[in-house]
Amino acid sequence: MHLRPAEDRDLPALLSIHNHAVRELTAAWTTIEDTLDDRRLWLEGRRADGLPVLVAVDEADQVLGYGTYGAFRARPGYRLTAEHSVYVATQAQGRGIGKTLMLALIDRARAEGYHVLVGAVDSSNEASLALHASLGFDVSCRLPQVGHKFGRWLDLVLASLVLDDREVPPAA
Ligand SMILES: CC(C)(COP(=O)(O)OP(=O)(O)OC[C@H]1O[C@@H](n2cnc3c(N)ncnc32)[C@H](O)[C@@H]1OP(=O)(O)O)[C@@H](O)C(=O)NCCC(=O)NCCS
Repeated sequence: MHLRPAEDRDLPALLSIHNHAVRELTAAWTTIEDTLDDRRLWLEGRRADGLPVLVAVDEADQVLGYGTYGAFRARPGYRLTAEHSVYVATQAQGRGIGKTLMLALIDRARAEGYHVLVGAVDSSNEASLALHASLGFDVSCRLPQVGHKFGRWLDLVLASLVLDDREVPPAA
């Protein structure tokens, strides 16, 4: 397995992993599946904004998972914080791929001068919480019942990692 930037040829696999989460999981808080064009627009938007979309691929170049980050919130005061997400195909989970993707995103965000990474995690997602905790994320920020899916309320955990030791932020 190795990581590389996502290419257009990966779009069907990215769509499949995303829509599986929409249909089956509380990792994505929506029930509306994407189309291939939706995913293409998403990937093009990330590229246009200079944001990473990394795929983990096997020796046959088949996509096993992906990780990305983008803006956390829109106002300028949040611009040194990014919100990431990571998804691994069901059959490839538990083999270190999620962790490998996360480590690459952390390195990239740090190199690009971000100060904090935030992941928004459903509180019942034990695998994601374990992954984030194992990487040193603070997983103590919990917002009760701010979402719902499959007929039940969902609590959101905001998992955050400070990436550097800058004591003073930029003036603007
Ligand atoms: C969460 C997810 C990304 C983890 O990726 P993964 O490749 O399966 O996880 P890894 O094999 O890299 O394991 C990373 C760590 O999490 C822990 N972990 C993984 N799956 C776990 C599980 N089901 N239960 C408890 N801990 C788990 C591992 O023990 C490991 O910790 P360690 O390195 O200290 O041993 C993956 O399960 C996934 O894509 N799930 C569906 C989508 C999703 O929930 N995405 C996250 C949205 S916030």
